[in-house]
Amino acid sequence: MTELGWGRHYVAVEPTHFRVEYVINPFMDPAVQPDRALAWRQWHDMVGTLRDLGATVDVLPQRSDAPDMVYAMNLGLGVVRESGERHVVMSHMRYAERRMETRSAQPWFAEQGSTTSTVGRDGVGAHLEAGDAFAWGDGLVVGYGPRTEELALKHLATDLGVRVRGVRITHPGMYHLDLAFCPLDDRRAMVCPSALDDASAEALLAIVPEPLVLTEEEALTTFCANSVVVGRTVVMPACPDRVRAQLEEWGFEVVVVDVSEFHKGGGSIRCLTNPVDVTIGRDLPAVAGGEVLLPPA
Ligand code: ARG
Repeated sequence: MTELGWGRHYVAVEPTHFRVEYVINPFMDPAVQPDRALAWRQWHDMVGTLRDLGATVDVLPQRSDAPDMVYAMNLGLGVVRESGERHVVMSHMRYAERRMETRSAQPWFAEQGSTTSTVGRDGVGAHLEAGDAFAWGDGLVVGYGPRTEELALKHLATDLGVRVRGVRITHPGMYHLDLAFCPLDDRRAMVCPSALDDASAEALLAIVPEPLVLTEEEALTTFCANSVVVGRTVVMPACPDRVRAQLEEWGFEVVVVDVSEFHKGGGSIRCLTNPVDVTIGRDLPAVAGGEVLLPPA
C-alpha cells in the first residue's frame, strides 16, 4: 500500500471564542459549555502533535461572533490545481449561524495566496460544507443530505475538473461525511456504513478495497472516524481496542489526543483541521469538464 499523498499541511482556527451557543446538530446543548482553558490546552496539544509528526499547521484567527469557526474543516475545500495554483472552494454553510465564517476565511485564504470560488453564498445557491468531501480513489467522495446539497456536487466537479462521487447521508448524528469516513492509505479507510442509505453504503464500500468497518456506536460515541492521518500515523480522539488492533496490524501507529471539549460542539480532530495539500493530478485525477456519479435512488 501507498501512504496518502496529502495530509501534511493543515489550516486550523485557535479556539479563542469557542462556545456552544445554538443547536445545529444532536451533540450541541447550550447548557453544557466547554471548559475554555481545557479546550485551549487540548487544541494546542493536537496542533503540537501534528507539527511533531512533520505536518505544517497554519492558524487563522477566530471571529468573536462565530463560536463554531474552530471546526476549520468546514471553512472550505482546498486543493492544489495541476498548474500549481492553490484554490479553495469556500463552504456555503447550511445554517445561517455559521455563514459569517466565510467572510473572514475567504480573505484569509486569498492573503495566503489561494484563489477562491463559491458554490453559493449568503443563503442563495447550493450549500456545501467541506467536512463532507474527501479525495479518495479516482475522485472526490462527497457526502450530501444533512449539510451539503446534491447541487453542490455538480459545481465542485466542474469548478475543480474532477470526478465527484456522491454518497447520501441519512444519519442525523453523522451529519458530515468526516464523522463516518476516514481514508488511511491508498487502499484502506475507516467506514461507518450506518451513516448512509443502503445504496450509498454499498457504493462507498465498493471503492474501498480494505475497509475498516465501524459500528454506529463506535463512530458516534468515540468520534474515532474523525481522525487525521499523517503518513502512517493516525491521530485520533479515541481508539476502541478492536480498531487499534486492526490499524496496528496494518502497520499504522495510533496517537490518541483528547479533544473532548470540542465534542460538545459536535466535532473532533478532523473537524478541527483542514488539509490544503490535496493535489489534482496526484491525489485525484483531472477529468475535463468534471463528472458526477450518484448512487442509484
Ligand atoms: N457545530 C459544528 C456544526 O454543527 C460542528 C462541525 C463539525 N465539523 C465537521 N467537519 N464534522 O456545524
